[in-house]
Amino acid sequence: MMKLGKKDILGIRDMTPDEIRLILDTAESFLEISTRDIKKVPTLRGKSVINLFYEASTRTRTSFEIAGKRLSADTINISASTSSVVKGETLIDTARNLEAMNPDIIVLRHSAAGAPRLLASLVRQSIINAGDGANEHPSQALLDMMTIREKKGRIDGLKVAIIGDILHSRVARSNIYGLTKMGARVAVAGPATMMPRGIERLGVEAFLKIDDALADADVVMMLRIQLERQQQNIFPSLREYAQHFCLNRRNLQLARPDAIVMHPGPMNRGVEISPDIADDPGCSVILDQVNNGVAVRMALFYLLTGGNDE
Ligand code: CP
Repeated sequence: MMKLGKKDILGIRDMTPDEIRLILDTAESFLEISTRDIKKVPTLRGKSVINLFYEASTRTRTSFEIAGKRLSADTINISASTSSVVKGETLIDTARNLEAMNPDIIVLRHSAAGAPRLLASLVRQSIINAGDGANEHPSQALLDMMTIREKKGRIDGLKVAIIGDILHSRVARSNIYGLTKMGARVAVAGPATMMPRGIERLGVEAFLKIDDALADADVVMMLRIQLERQQQNIFPSLREYAQHFCLNRRNLQLARPDAIVMHPGPMNRGVEISPDIADDPGCSVILDQVNNGVAVRMALFYLLTGGNDE
């Protein structure tokens, strides 16, 4: 079996298609554990994982914690807001102190793009990027690709429409890297003020109207407006944004009849996605994404600790 051969998971940009396939295949093999009565295997007994979160999170932090616990790792959660960060301790000093306690993996979410890469160069532990600013969110893209493969049987040859705040979205960036490497055709759409200049250089088609990106899409991925990362008001109002970019019954008809609808969460219901679509089991796979997230994070822990080395 192929080895991952990486110390850290910093982004999808750094990954080969074979590495992505290895992680998705491994995650699929872990899915079954979460359906058992006793949801625990001894695979990572004696290993420890620190979740170090400088930004808010519901899904990612819980999912990494559950993933570690299902594999019997000791998992420790640290929020910047309740740590010595509030007394002025730097990220580097925090990491060096955690390193001295000898964990095996540090999972880091930080508002600064590049923070996980910096830590990876400074500490001997494996670093997993759980989202760094507007840069990357690799475990999210992996769980998204796993969900697409599960629902559609493949990624290669599909058309994926990614809609919304492309400029500030680390989810969009990681998915664009991953989906294009795996052979999907990616179309992005959003307001001009939320569209990075030169985005086409990443191998995607870019549109300023949602309808143009949705045409014949197999997969529709809606993005949250990242109000916390916007330096100034870049759209007039949420109401106007919703008028032009909310996924609704009318525009979803432009996609293929069997299109699936995805959202990384948290959702702004009625802004980027209408609630009846978000809750429609006929097309929405939003909670399947969350379920697959645990398996993907189990796979990352397993592969980084040399689980498939023999
Ligand atoms: N998808 C995602 O990253 O959600 P959280 O911010 O809740 O972790």
